Amino acid sequence: RYRKTVIAGNWKMNMTATETKKFAEELKKIMPRAKWCDTLICVPACNIQTAAKAFKDLRISVGAENVYFEEKGAYTGEISADMLKDLGVKYVIVGHSERRQYFCETDTTVNKKVHAVLNAGMNPIICVGESLEQRETGITDEWIALQVKSALYGVPADKLRRCIIAYEPIWAIGTGKTATAEQAGEVCTNIRATIRSLYGARVARSVTIQYGGSMNPKNAAELLAQPDIDGGLIGGAALKPDQFVDIINAAN
Ligand code: G3H
Repeated sequence: RYRKTVIAGNWKMNMTATETKKFAEELKKIMPRAKWCDTLICVPACNIQTAAKAFKDLRISVGAENVYFEEKGAYTGEISADMLKDLGVKYVIVGHSERRQYFCETDTTVNKKVHAVLNAGMNPIICVGESLEQRETGITDEWIALQVKSALYGVPADKLRRCIIAYEPIWAIGTGKTATAEQAGEVCTNIRATIRSLYGARVARSVTIQYGGSMNPKNAAELLAQPDIDGGLIGGAALKPDQFVDIINAAN
């Protein structure tokens, strides 16, 4: 394979520090010894240190769910890329649809955050996805291509290798409705084609593209079998140790 398979959990606004430790204990009992995929969980910022300690023996990296793009200064309540990096964070979710929807993230701020994460030496997980209305209107491909191009604006090819793109159809997030493997695979193939048009075939081949949206132990294998789906960004099922492990096993 030209690229890494990456299984990532996104805990969103769930799990206290105490619950994080308990989760790690339970996971320890069932985690497969050998993993052929990279595994990480993105946790609320206040629990990054607890998670990093708890997940160390499990060889699970800790990711962040958001970052602010300015380097430092008078931005009360925000967290910089350097602060995350200093805690050992390797991956940062950027532009999740919930942040676009509830916290006014735009393609412009997503692009600034992508640069901030890359400049700090971390890997952005860039989320893109269409609404149900957009899918039904038949503009999914144009919309996703625009989101991908905007997010990657100004990113040089050597840094692109550190980017992960997560395709998350908004209508499939937390709804129990998954895109069919074919639907998801088709969009991910188009995402790779967009990257190819910007950076050429060699770079496009090396980029990990994940699917996210009600991924679970039942549908994971079929989704991951699609040639351009290289992993998952998992919400609900990543809160349950047994389900998360089943998805890791499906990727192995
Ligand atoms: O980032 C994760 C996605 O939003 C998917 O969430 O698996 O709960 O549908 P979900």
